[in-house]
Amino acid sequence: MELKPFQIEDWLNLHEQKIRWHLSESCAHPFTVQQFLDCCHEPADQLLSCHLGYDDIIGSEQLRTEIAGLYEHISKDSIAVAVGISNANVMAMMEFLKPGMKMLTPTPTYDHFTNFAESIGVHVYPFEFDDRKPFDLDSFLDQMKGMDAVGIVNPNNPTGYTFSREEITKIKHQAEQCGCLLIVDEAYRFMTLDEHTSFAEDSDRVIVTGGLSKAIGLPGLRVGWIISSKKNIDLINSRRNYHIIALSPLQDRLACIALSHTDILLKRTEAVIQANTAYLHGWLKDNPMFSISLSHGSLHLLHAPFNSAAFSEYLYQKYQLLLAPGECFNESNCWRLSLSIDPEVLKQGLQIISEESKTWKE
Ligand SMILES: Cc1ncc(COP(=O)(O)O)c(C=O)c1O
Repeated sequence: MELKPFQIEDWLNLHEQKIRWHLSESCAHPFTVQQFLDCCHEPADQLLSCHLGYDDIIGSEQLRTEIAGLYEHISKDSIAVAVGISNANVMAMMEFLKPGMKMLTPTPTYDHFTNFAESIGVHVYPFEFDDRKPFDLDSFLDQMKGMDAVGIVNPNNPTGYTFSREEITKIKHQAEQCGCLLIVDEAYRFMTLDEHTSFAEDSDRVIVTGGLSKAIGLPGLRVGWIISSKKNIDLINSRRNYHIIALSPLQDRLACIALSHTDILLKRTEAVIQANTAYLHGWLKDNPMFSISLSHGSLHLLHAPFNSAAFSEYLYQKYQLLLAPGECFNESNCWRLSLSIDPEVLKQGLQIISEESKTWKE
């Protein structure tokens, strides 16, 4: 199995050790365990009675019920738990994608539905879209014809593009007509201000992944999941003993706490994205050299007409400012900007970018 480098993660791992301003951090600001429990008004001592055995191999009933509650018409039997969304994506792709299949994927995107799918013999057909223009849905629906699968990251990483309920209905209808599988990574669901519709459905043809890493702000808890028909979920669960076996009961317990307080946790994230969106729009007026994607939420591509890889490296070396270049997504003249970060970090970081861009020479 040949696997190409995971460009964005490799770039972040290389640079993340020594930073002052991280403008590409994709999660809501992560908590310590104590901060998290305080935020949810939950006592810490309940964790001490957690039994560290091979309990609830497929995830506790409470956890699967709480996850199902995030979706319309989904029951706990349609949920398979995973170690983060990455593991959910990989389990889903290994189970449902086969060598020789043709898969359409909107790009730029996260490397799972391109590189990993290719590594298991899938022929990936990129549907390249310009993030500053409306998504050409008609052309996408047309290109779905003849495909075995469609792989979508919604909201998209890095552009933030988010399909509306109406677009999702059309894509699902077309998938039904073409007999193709829909595999959708919803890692960034609830990281948008106005559109949270999920593709999830109790169907053999629809496989959706999600987790607690982004909007909930618990990437270190490593909890993700897959949603599909009971038949598909039973299949995934029958294979789990070959790799993850189970989540730790501690992960399960903390995830249950998070999911029973999504009102508090999502409000925290939304308030930050709202404040940062307002600030960014003001900044763009003063910095007309820059423009952003048509995004509804936390992730944007920030565009400017100069070498993004070189500018990122310069900002990192001079300020320890981290701004992931578009090159991590096979794009140029742009950077992935996240609006779920601390507003003060965004403000100071954009001020540095503004000053440096005025004198920048390649
Ligand atoms: C689209 C997408 N899917 C999955 C992941 C990985 O999520 P997790 O940390 O829960 O494995 C990321 C992380 O950045 C992501 O951007």
